[in-house]
Amino acid sequence: MENNKKIILTGDRPTGKMHIGHYFGSLQNRVKLQDEYEQYILIADVQALTDNFNNPEKVRNSIKQVCMDYLACGIDSEKTTICVQSMIPEIAELTVFYSNLVTVARLERNPTVKTEISQKKELFGNNGESITYGFLGYPVSQAADITSFGAHIVPAGEDQEPLVEQTREIVRKFNSIYGDTLIEPEIMLSKTPRIKGLDGNAKMGKSLGNAIYLSDSEDEILKKVMAAVTDKTKIKKDDKANPEICMVGYYHNLFNLENKECVFSECREGRRGCVNCKKELAKKINEYLLPIRNKRKYYEEHPEIVDKILIEGTLKARNRAKYTMSKVKKAMHIDYFDEK
Ligand code: TRP
Repeated sequence: MENNKKIILTGDRPTGKMHIGHYFGSLQNRVKLQDEYEQYILIADVQALTDNFNNPEKVRNSIKQVCMDYLACGIDSEKTTICVQSMIPEIAELTVFYSNLVTVARLERNPTVKTEISQKKELFGNNGESITYGFLGYPVSQAADITSFGAHIVPAGEDQEPLVEQTREIVRKFNSIYGDTLIEPEIMLSKTPRIKGLDGNAKMGKSLGNAIYLSDSEDEILKKVMAAVTDKTKIKKDDKANPEICMVGYYHNLFNLENKECVFSECREGRRGCVNCKKELAKKINEYLLPIRNKRKYYEEHPEIVDKILIEGTLKARNRAKYTMSKVKKAMHIDYFDEK
């Protein structure tokens, strides 16, 4: 509003601390984007509650942790507005209005929701009885997130594409019924490949138990690296092995690129024992994370600063959402008692 920069919005469900998958997948990018755009980051606690409604403590405890992770990585509260979803009731209000513009069938066809539903069915082994109205409707709530701040662009991975697409549909429908009011957002697809876990899993995640957290201590990192999956054919220290099928090799490629060639050839020639190779990797990861960890420690020791950033960010974001809300109500002719 106050400048000509385009508005971008990203968000995270606060269900735990952030890991290096988040860092390479999005946090790093957000640090870059904050100079060029007017950036909002939404800590989506209401969305987190759609599948953690029976564990609100987890969500509550994660809000500040996630905020500290942002700040530790270099997200600057002077440039980026960090806000908490549940403290912006206009988002919930918009969700109600938008819910009339979306069919249940369309929600059930949303590929992201579809995948999540089939994962739930696998987990609970029933015919969708665990699928709540709130869960099915979270794309509507995400459309409210995006439009309430007037976001032009949503930087995200492929998994979020169907959610942005559904937002675009809602916006078009709203604008066609009530007049041109909402901004139709575009996705800025993240090009970075997903980071694999040290266990070889294609995805890193808290629920998979294979995450390296930005807040992990040196010892925790060493322990995780020592348990990494290597080329199973290598039994003895001087056996030849294939670093291409070894998770330690994969991580050397990420954190020790300058020595990668040497590490890989020593491994292939049987001149590199796994124990030392892992210790060397842990050292590299620790070096990489040290500045992040130190910055995080500062915020851990100053929780009042984190609170202030969240409160001020939310206040600013809420004002933006109120502005959208007033336009929406006017367009829908439900601005009954406002002065004309
Ligand atoms: N769905 C996103 C995720 O699970 C989180 C999110 C909530 C979000 N609201 C958003 C992302 C708005 C982008 C824009 O990661």
